[in-house]
Amino acid sequence: MAKVSIIGAGQVGATCAYTLLKNNVADIVLVDVVEGLARGKALDMMQAGAIEGYDRKVIGTTDYKEVGGSDVVVITAGLARQPGMTRTDLLSKNAGIVKSVVSSVVAEEPEAIIVVVTNPVDILAYVALKTSGLKPNRVIGMSGALDSARYKYFISQMLNVPLSSVDGMVIGIHGDDMIPVTSQTKVGDKPLLSLVSQEQLREIIEKTKHGGAEIVSYLKTGSAFYAPGAAAARMVDAILNDSDEIIPCSVYVQGRDVFDDFYIGLPVKLGRIGVREIVEIPLTEIEREALYQSAAGIKNTMNEMREIIGG
Ligand code: APR
Repeated sequence: MAKVSIIGAGQVGATCAYTLLKNNVADIVLVDVVEGLARGKALDMMQAGAIEGYDRKVIGTTDYKEVGGSDVVVITAGLARQPGMTRTDLLSKNAGIVKSVVSSVVAEEPEAIIVVVTNPVDILAYVALKTSGLKPNRVIGMSGALDSARYKYFISQMLNVPLSSVDGMVIGIHGDDMIPVTSQTKVGDKPLLSLVSQEQLREIIEKTKHGGAEIVSYLKTGSAFYAPGAAAARMVDAILNDSDEIIPCSVYVQGRDVFDDFYIGLPVKLGRIGVREIVEIPLTEIEREALYQSAAGIKNTMNEMREIIGG
């Protein structure tokens, strides 16, 4: 029986848990520092099983002891950016949280596969890797699964076609410089580029890049959680089912030209060992250049923040 622990029982953590339950993927442990929060949500989710037709154990607790024996641990614990908080403040706060969470997780489950959701994910996945002492294939960030979902949504809206007919992915940094791989995107069996004008393409890309910010602007307090929670659950499902599915994720790269010792979003095959392999996809010269720029951006941030992130 698969067991998944989710640290942080907030909006994203709870949505991830509920998605896994509804898809009957695993028993769940929810952990949160706030007394009673995880426990209350766990009870609610178990009662929903009588309606939804799943019969899974859900534990909500503040105690990491329950994490022992987990196959996958999803980390959503952290703070959202508050008004007046700089990116550095946020990184420093969330890096502290991720360090303490990961130390507690590996003390109970030294062999877990860790999926990091807390932002900025490319940096915090690296923090989780260094803190955990796990092999890089076992520490993965959630990024491209969400960005690709938004990309596909905006294409389907633009062309008025079903979401299921759109196939495409987003790689690179999880932020404003993300790279939708337009050259490889298909709608049905047609290349996207044969169906949209340059103007429409620019609009799709802009909307994708600002998909998260648009939602924040409507919600006012808090940020997106249905798609982020579902994206993390999709990754957990692919890992536990050893699916070999190719999902773009934030992964550790080493010794590949300038791609050395950091995390960046690339297409990967996921399975029971975590990352099975990074999959090379054909890129145009412009996409390749953008990926190299992304890499340089991440390296700069990492150098500036070396003291905070360690490693
Ligand atoms: N240990 C455990 N839980 C913690 C800790 C900690 N040290 N610190 C904070 N938390 C919990 C909070 O109590 C809260 O319940 O993490 C939860 C975060 O939930 P929300 O505030 O609802 O935030 P959410 O919208 O779920 O986003 C979480 O995911 O997508 C990313 O950018 C997003 O970094 C953010 C993260």
